[in-house]
Amino acid sequence: MNNVSELALSYLQRYNCQIFEDYKTVLREACEIHPPPHGMAWYGNLYRQLARQSEWFVNSLITNSAEEGTGARGVWQFSQRIENQDFAELVRNHSIDESRHSKMFAALLNILFPSQIDADLWAKLQTFSPEYYPHQHPPIEIPTPDQIMDEKLVMDEIIQINLLEIRALILQLLLRPVLQAYAKPEDLPKITQMSDVLIYDETKHIEYSAYCIGKYIEAGHESWVREMMIYRQQTINEMFLEGVELENSVGKTVLTTQ
Ligand SMILES: [Fe+2]
Ligand SMILES: [Fe+2]
Repeated sequence: MNNVSELALSYLQRYNCQIFEDYKTVLREACEIHPPPHGMAWYGNLYRQLARQSEWFVNSLITNSAEEGTGARGVWQFSQRIENQDFAELVRNHSIDESRHSKMFAALLNILFPSQIDADLWAKLQTFSPEYYPHQHPPIEIPTPDQIMDEKLVMDEIIQINLLEIRALILQLLLRPVLQAYAKPEDLPKITQMSDVLIYDETKHIEYSAYCIGKYIEAGHESWVREMMIYRQQTINEMFLEGVELENSVGKTVLTTQ
């Protein structure tokens, strides 16, 4: 048993998410075969060690605000190429959440390190989120035949989203005590509540992508899904291990895959 798959499944259960048994099986297998670095003790230790330096931590909040905004735009574009409109709507909601997360990271920075934000940085932070809301977002277009992405490519993308959202959840769990440690006592309830929202949202992103994966298994693609989950867990692990050497990917809750 791997701690990353078990942690993800326990958060899904905590929030009463309905998860297909077949999905649980393939997730467990993928994490068993390619144990994710973000579930290892050294990874958490490295994160805490880096986050103790406030300059690194400030930068990681800025980076996360930028990455969540980029992720929101990318995910919206992806939603426009999905033929299955049940899946496309879930992906659009995901994009709206990430747009909000970008603003939340900027807000966290503003609450914890107000003196670090000059007018230029503030102006820059405002550009990160695409400002998508449930009532305000780009028009929803049903893809034309030439825009439609091949079903297998869609599912490959959703599998990567799923595994990256599990990583995002773990990053939020590492982030939480650090945010609380930097918070002034009067800001602690607010910071903690924001962390609660981020953790809940990332769990819901795992849930919806797991639902799509489960549906695809149900449609008769079990062995393809199994192989792809194992392969993508491997490529994701490699991608972030390369980044660790540069010490710049450790705190990122990134969503984009390439
Ligand atoms: Fe996020
Ligand atoms: Fe997310």
